[in-house]
Amino acid sequence: MSLIISGGTVVTADGRFQADVRVDGGKITALGLDLAQSGDKIIDASGKYVLPGGIDVHTHLSMPSMGTVTCDDYYTGQVAAAMGGTTTHLDFCIQPKGSSLRAALDIWHGRAKGQAVIDYGFHVAVTDPLPEVLDEIAGLPDQGVTSIKLFLAYKDTLQVDDTAVFRCLERARDAGVLTLVHAENGDAIEILMAEAVARGETAPKYHALTRPPELEAEATGRAIALAEVLGAPLYIVHLSCRPALARVREAQARGARVTAETCTQYFFFTKDDLDCLGFEGAKWVCSPPLREKEDQAALWAAVGDGTLSVISTDHCPFRFDTQKTLGRDNFTLIPNGVPGIEERLMVLHQAGVRGGHFSLERFVALTATNPARSFGLGGVKGAIAPGYDADLALWDLERPHTITAKTNHGAVDYSLYEGMEVRGMPVTVLVRGQTVIDQGRLITERGSGQFLHRQRI
Ligand code: URP
Ligand code: ZN
Ligand code: ZN
Ligand code: ZN
Repeated sequence: MSLIISGGTVVTADGRFQADVRVDGGKITALGLDLAQSGDKIIDASGKYVLPGGIDVHTHLSMPSMGTVTCDDYYTGQVAAAMGGTTTHLDFCIQPKGSSLRAALDIWHGRAKGQAVIDYGFHVAVTDPLPEVLDEIAGLPDQGVTSIKLFLAYKDTLQVDDTAVFRCLERARDAGVLTLVHAENGDAIEILMAEAVARGETAPKYHALTRPPELEAEATGRAIALAEVLGAPLYIVHLSCRPALARVREAQARGARVTAETCTQYFFFTKDDLDCLGFEGAKWVCSPPLREKEDQAALWAAVGDGTLSVISTDHCPFRFDTQKTLGRDNFTLIPNGVPGIEERLMVLHQAGVRGGHFSLERFVALTATNPARSFGLGGVKGAIAPGYDADLALWDLERPHTITAKTNHGAVDYSLYEGMEVRGMPVTVLVRGQTVIDQGRLITERGSGQFLHRQRI
């Protein structure tokens, strides 16, 4: 007895076709017409598009930051993800200073344990590159972790220097581990922020004005240079602007092992959004900051031409009522980060596919297939083919939906996309063949999601 997803249009990164999907033991075992046999369990997908579940490789659930903690835990954040058609995410485990990487991972496993409703993995952020910590990098793949993250910004908290970057890149290369960087020049930003505050420039808009694009481009180029000297693979997270894009494009043209993502919000908002509603602009405070219309156009072009291969969320939710307000009198105290794990696929389908920037197939590539391949989940997640996990989202591409925090499912009290009307949303979502969302209703149990042991890069 199998599970058959029957009568839908299957969409992959390479094309679309009418097919039933047969699932046995949580894995896809066949694609073809009229696969159902007597006794099989049937999910009727007629009129629906069957996409691989989304993969969001950049999230921050239950993360301590700037004197508070992101408001989505592994349950609320993952329920929101599933409601939006995402079935796998990779979250950032942050090394507390003085701690080992293993101890940091234990803390993060403890947070996720018993809560998860979708599958998940961890990147580990190295914040305190002690010699014994560098020695741990070689052992990360045995713990299922095949990516590390380095912050070139957030001076005196998360930031590491170039010595650490160079050493980590080398160790990571040798271990089959991908190095991710948050590329902004934290030293220069620290000075610009202090000078702004001294001038009395404390409103949210100064967050964007003290983090200019040139400082993202500088750090992007510096990380690329260090990686290139070592022949180490590098992944630039949340790339936001034209000059940083130029650094990536030049490096790729030279044959450097550089890939990069951008995040949903950079297509939709600009630095003006930090200023239009008074302190409510704090809702849009994230790093790198929102940029300009011309940057949005450049990002759409770059996800089309392949310079950027992944669109993730950087979901880092802080409530407006109790958390963003920490910075009411001083923008440097506004917790950095925006929510988007539930909205990502719906708003990108609307603006990206309906808006004519890319095809439905490219949408699948950018939000599922490429992230899986880049992060050691190839052959397991991110595609619809025999042997892959049956992580599937059945989309009704005609269904209208108005995005609003009132009906979103996470713990955050606002949506950047409030009032946006989309046509097309996931209605049924499966993780390893188990229905998690049925006709828009959550029906899974806490703890059904699994930790993913990822392959070496
Ligand atoms: O503002 C942001 N992006 N906060 C989350 C942490 C990070 O830099 O990714
Ligand atoms: Zn970052
Ligand atoms: Zn982030
Ligand atoms: Zn809804």
